[in-house]
Amino acid sequence: MRFGFVDALKSIDLDLFSQEVVAIVGDNGAGKSTLVKVIAGLQQPNEGSIIMQGEEVRITSVRDASSRGIASVFQNQEFCDNLNVAANLFLGQELEHNAGIRDDESMISKAREVLATLTESIRVGQPINALSVGQRQTVALARTLLNDPRLILLDEPTASLSVMQVAEVLSYIKRLRSEGRCVLMVCHDLPDVFAVADRIVVLRQGHIIGVHRTEDTSYEHIIAQIAGVSHDEEMADNEGAQRYGSLVGQSKLINRTMRNRAEHTDEQDA
Ligand SMILES: Nc1ncnc2c1ncn2[C@@H]1O[C@H](COP(=O)(O)OP(=O)(O)OP(=O)(O)O)[C@@H](O)[C@H]1O
Ligand SMILES: [Mg+2]
Repeated sequence: MRFGFVDALKSIDLDLFSQEVVAIVGDNGAGKSTLVKVIAGLQQPNEGSIIMQGEEVRITSVRDASSRGIASVFQNQEFCDNLNVAANLFLGQELEHNAGIRDDESMISKAREVLATLTESIRVGQPINALSVGQRQTVALARTLLNDPRLILLDEPTASLSVMQVAEVLSYIKRLRSEGRCVLMVCHDLPDVFAVADRIVVLRQGHIIGVHRTEDTSYEHIIAQIAGVSHDEEMADNEGAQRYGSLVGQSKLINRTMRNRAEHTDEQDA
């Protein structure tokens, strides 16, 4: 994927399967959002191919993606501030009576049904601008459930959420997996990644430089790959190694957070 002189994606070879959560990690500007946007139909790649169930496809728009069973939630999801929650849920995909007339009743009841599976704190008649950042994120996630998608793309789903809301989003992601869907999520927060991902993809400067099963890897290894250093370079005197050193210094704290959070989400799942 090329933007002018910037090659945002260079070597990408990734298989996705049903019933799994795959996390994409990498430094700022690594190409994570671009990769997700290409699959979501928001951006057209200059080269390469996307194969779905054995067939090469060109995903030309978000609507096209949606018809192929791909749903997406991006950073800074746009809403219509003057509309209520139900109307925003169905924005651009309104339900209609046979006669081509909007079916408000069905939309409201479907909105209620979908939201109830995610949270009790949002009413469908509330104006969207009365909601907190986290509640808006929940509405954005609820939108992905409307069309029974096979693949859900999430760009930073837990960014700027409270601890409780993060736990809600993580259990939502696990639920999507247990329903047989695939979730591909970009995430900066390694505790969240280790809490839900089956596989972790490390992207660096437009290249996939590692795909790991979560159970077979470690924070240190992932952080080293993100920073672009190998383990044995740890003590070396270069900038990447120094960044790696300071990041690994935090890993005890991160590990503790992860354990606490895993316990917390397990409790919620129970
Ligand atoms: N629409 C665009 N036009 C020009 N350059 C772009 C565009 N979108 C992305 N880029 C460039 O492509 C590269 C990858 O950007 P991308 O947004 O995919 O990174 P990212 O990994 O999601 O980073 P972050 O962690 O900051 O969200 C960056 O160098 C960025 O400047
Ligand atoms: Mg991004």
